[in-house]
Amino acid sequence: MDAIELLKQQHREVEELFEKFEKAGEGKPEVLMDLAARIADNLAAHATIEEKLFYPSVYVGPTMEKLQHAVEEHLSAKRVIADLLEMDPADAQFKAKVMVLQELIEHHVKEEEKELFPKVKKLMTKEELAVIGEQMEVMFSELIQSEPRMQVPLETDEAAPLP
Ligand SMILES: [Fe+2]
Repeated sequence: MDAIELLKQQHREVEELFEKFEKAGEGKPEVLMDLAARIADNLAAHATIEEKLFYPSVYVGPTMEKLQHAVEEHLSAKRVIADLLEMDPADAQFKAKVMVLQELIEHHVKEEEKELFPKVKKLMTKEELAVIGEQMEVMFSELIQSEPRMQVPLETDEAAPLP
């Protein structure tokens, strides 16, 4: 699959998980915990394939500033995820923390889709995007099987390196 289509599809999937979390409302702590863990796993694997494969492949002239911005936003999100992993879902602040994560991600997704991806489309051919997309799909499906959220607390010191 085209790298950009893959990332957009994953954005929609995580948006759905956030909606489910919102709807779970005053749900049982186990349900909230399970949804938060799924959100964190999806975001962790998504950020990794972007940082390891997508961003470095498209880090040239017109995109460099956007990508530097993007990895800083990833870092902010990772710090919130790391906080969440240490929290008890019965904690009164748990939902508020998930909502803050949702806002960060919504903002980041909007910038990627409206600003970064159009620039990337001008730089890369369909074939190049397909090759990267395939590598990203493979890496994502491997990562998602091994609770990738557990790696997030190890990545909160500084933004991922570019390229
Ligand atoms: Fe991203």
